[in-house]
Amino acid sequence: MQILSFESSCDETSCAVVEYTDGVFNVKSNIVASQIDIHARFGGVVPEIASRAHCEVISKITYEALAEAGADLDKDIDAIAVTSSPGLIGALLVGVNFAKSLAYSHGLPLVAVNHMKGHIAANYITHPELKPPFLTLIASGGHTSFVIVHDYTKTETVGSTRDDAMGEAFDKVARVMGMPYPGGAALDKLAYEGKPTLKFPSSAITGDTLDMSFSGIKTAVLNYINSKEQKGEEIPKADVAASFVESAVSGVIAKLSLTLDAYPEIKSLALAGGVAANSHLRAAVTKLATERGINLYLPELKYCGDNGAMIAVAGIFEYLEGKRADVFLNACAADEEE
Ligand code: KG4
Ligand code: ZN
Repeated sequence: MQILSFESSCDETSCAVVEYTDGVFNVKSNIVASQIDIHARFGGVVPEIASRAHCEVISKITYEALAEAGADLDKDIDAIAVTSSPGLIGALLVGVNFAKSLAYSHGLPLVAVNHMKGHIAANYITHPELKPPFLTLIASGGHTSFVIVHDYTKTETVGSTRDDAMGEAFDKVARVMGMPYPGGAALDKLAYEGKPTLKFPSSAITGDTLDMSFSGIKTAVLNYINSKEQKGEEIPKADVAASFVESAVSGVIAKLSLTLDAYPEIKSLALAGGVAANSHLRAAVTKLATERGINLYLPELKYCGDNGAMIAVAGIFEYLEGKRADVFLNACAADEEE
């Protein structure tokens, strides 16, 4: 089967065509129109501007995705999938309404997809051998959670950040050091040039909880930088980056280890979300998986950030389970886990 998918939950408008045959996914097109340049001068995503920018490109990228895939909407596409939650409500509504109209006018089945399940599904593109149950660490700009994938459409969150998301903390620390939005990837690189000599709080919450916190570490870094600026002292940016990355990643690894202890029946681990592209996190998770003798699945870098292909894959599983949305489908800003 072939599915056409839409993703517009934040600051990327994406449309993809993915084919599914005998358990293998073939991404025939995956057009991502990024709004980063539009939001960069504000230092973060401006929701109203994001919604308008989605409106401007969604029709154009649909034609592009179909053309690149060599697919005819009426002859070759079996269903349409769209991210309906969680995300920025105005941004989500653009994708949801566009997908609904297209599905209705072409008589195609419509499937609603949870964005976080989409991030997890990015792993199936590269690793068709990955099968539930497994544990996923989802780390993005809006979420950071440990999620047990019970089957292709059923997930359970067993631990999460109690405040900021990991990507959000990366972006805020990068911003205060003068890096353009979103600075997560630049901070990842800068950390290699410094040493983790500064002590910042861990992202692991003390005790047996599987929850994490990124606001304490973020505030500690901001306070350190402000105090240096006030004193007119030079900021050792590379050391700040290395120390921040070390505290953020080691805390996540400590809680990941605790989560694996709590669910000994889980033998496979996957990473998901924009921060899954972080090289320090990938290296630390690889080390942990080797030490514990569990299978590790890392998404390809091009499928870590928001994209339509991951929504198509999650949508195919929902479709195969018989789930259908209709013209009354609404968007929802909050995460609605099953
Ligand atoms: O999943 P995503 O594309 O969007 C959301 O659903 O939020 O994640 C975006 C986040 C941003 O905070 C971005 O800075 C972060 O992922 N990110 C990174 C890296 N690449 C992207 N954070 C740290 N290191 C990276 N290499
Ligand atoms: Zn995302």
